[in-house]
Amino acid sequence: MTALIERGVVALLLLSVLHAASSLSAPARLDVDDDDVRLSPRETSQGEPVQANKDQALQTLQLRKRESKNKKGRTCYSTCSAVQKHSCVDWLNYNKGSGIRTVYVSGEPITVYCDQTTDNGGWIVFQRRIDASTDFFRNWTDYRNGFGDMERNFWLGLDKLHSLTTSQKYELRVDLHMWNSTKGHAIYSGFYVEGVGHNFALQYDKFTGGNAGDSLWHQRGQQFSTKDRDHDKSGLNCAQYFHGAWWYKGCHVSNLNGEYKTSSSAPSKDGMNWDTFGGVNTYSMQFTEMKIRPI
Ligand SMILES: *[C@@H]1O[C@H](CO)[C@@H](O)[C@H](O)[C@H]1NC(C)=O
Ligand SMILES: *[C@@H]1O[C@H](CO)[C@@H](O)[C@H](O)[C@H]1NC(C)=O
Repeated sequence: MTALIERGVVALLLLSVLHAASSLSAPARLDVDDDDVRLSPRETSQGEPVQANKDQALQTLQLRKRESKNKKGRTCYSTCSAVQKHSCVDWLNYNKGSGIRTVYVSGEPITVYCDQTTDNGGWIVFQRRIDASTDFFRNWTDYRNGFGDMERNFWLGLDKLHSLTTSQKYELRVDLHMWNSTKGHAIYSGFYVEGVGHNFALQYDKFTGGNAGDSLWHQRGQQFSTKDRDHDKSGLNCAQYFHGAWWYKGCHVSNLNGEYKTSSSAPSKDGMNWDTFGGVNTYSMQFTEMKIRPI
């Protein structure tokens, strides 16, 4: 009995010593100018013990400290690229929720929307249509710079899309919802858009799957066109004709920046069509998202 109690006391003592040690050393080491490893209660909402999170954060920080000497050999925290997130996959380690975040490309901040739920998350969303409240029939400047509300309907912008997709290798995912809740998606590997010098031409390695099928094949390699910048291979001004802005050729088998119809019927090709999911002359989506994730 006594031995048991003594053991208990020893164990308790040991625990409190350990606890004291960790709570002395860990916060001291973590108390750096780095928002990303701050140990506020909301950072520990995943149901894991606080200590596990601390240890994890400490390990991450030490790893970073080793890895993140800048050019002058100075150890750097939030100001150096080593702790900057470059994609929504990096953000998964800090905040598992979807929402608006900052990612860095070559030290430049870009505000993006992270989808952290679809297929394990890690997606930067660059296009979303949920209703007709945002006009997508816009000019070149608007498509370069981006427009809309990232929580609702928006286009991120071609300049940012180019920076992101040429900074590392990405896959593209297209999510489509029909009006009867049928969902489709399509995935492409090695997706990027070229620079403004090539009018943001669409490039990818290959269609790698998804039940919506491949409806970018005709747009592959094509330059981006808007109603005021016709870069397509058609005698028509495709953007003008199909009320959108896209990598038109002559003209399209998909038109996700087309006109938002308030029902599924889109008898002409100016709706938000995807040829292999609903048909290019017959169906306009209720919801679309286009998103990228590092491969
Ligand atoms: C493009 O459209 C925006 C409004 O969406 C307008 O303010 C701007 O002047 C237009 N730019 C050109 C070059 O037409
Ligand atoms: C939903 O609509 C599409 C297109 O009209 C159709 O092919 C599909 O069978 C429908 N799905 C359901 C569950 O009704």
